[in-house]
Amino acid sequence: MAGLSGGDGEIRLKKTKPSKNARTARKADKHILYQESVQTPEADASFITRTFRALRGREAQSLREDFCGTALFSGQWVKGGRERTAFGIDLDSKVQDWGREHNLGPLGAAAERVVLFTGDVLHTRTPRVDVNVAFNFSYWVFKTRPLLRDYFRAVHRHLKKDGLFFLDMHGGTQSMEVLCERRRKHGFTYVWEHLTFDIVSHDMRCAISFEFPDGTRQKHAFTYDWRLWSLPEVRELLLEAGFSDVRCYFEGTKRGTTTGNGIYSLKERCSNDPCWLAYVVAAP
Ligand SMILES: C[S@@+](CC[C@H](N)C(=O)[O-])C[C@H]1O[C@@H](n2cnc3c(N)ncnc32)[C@H](O)[C@@H]1O
Repeated sequence: MAGLSGGDGEIRLKKTKPSKNARTARKADKHILYQESVQTPEADASFITRTFRALRGREAQSLREDFCGTALFSGQWVKGGRERTAFGIDLDSKVQDWGREHNLGPLGAAAERVVLFTGDVLHTRTPRVDVNVAFNFSYWVFKTRPLLRDYFRAVHRHLKKDGLFFLDMHGGTQSMEVLCERRRKHGFTYVWEHLTFDIVSHDMRCAISFEFPDGTRQKHAFTYDWRLWSLPEVRELLLEAGFSDVRCYFEGTKRGTTTGNGIYSLKERCSNDPCWLAYVVAAP
């Protein structure tokens, strides 16, 4: 992925004898690990389907996935109905090729309803769509107000009159901290790091690494150079770009814990958390 640098650091941590099929740094494909660690295409598609139906009184059919990477979400979208279509846009043709082979190919005929464009989301023109998505905070690559506003204007131009723009946000007290979190996955550990955070510019560098039971790891398999945007800034820029209504849906927590429960509700006000996640939904 452009803006993300490939990790070449295969480091042996401690030796244990791996089973034959066990994942190791050498054998594991970083795009598969990424998808298993940070993407939730079924849940995203379900949220969009329900929210679009509730707000627009019809079914969403056409989608534009900005920063599509491996186009996992575009594939999930077209699987959800025969009328559904998707355009995926990304700067990185190699990642898109990987997605064609691993995510779109297995869909068979449905894959014909996905068209991938290699280009900049600021300048790539597509027909107008019902839904535009920008997920996994990818739009944080735009670090100035004029650039982010230009991006939001580009999205606005590509939406139908009753279309909706879905983007995600995270924040909370931990978002400005240098930190390293580990989460166990199937046969590997996902490691999320905030490497640096600058309080003057809100520039942050983050990285994803993967660790394996045999002690090897893919260090900094993906890195990110972002600006940490706040919710009020994003709302204001969406409105300045021409959107008329911006709503925030926050993830709830499991009873008695601060762990997310995957259920998002519309809120006008919300108290801070160590780490919160939200969908922002903007109407043109
Ligand atoms: C974090 S990945 C997102 C992958 C996937 N959409 C997801 O939700 O996890 C960010 C992607 O944005 C792409 N990208 C960065 N700047 C871009 C731009 N200006 N236009 C198009 N793609 C861009 C990168 O090539 C990379 O594949």
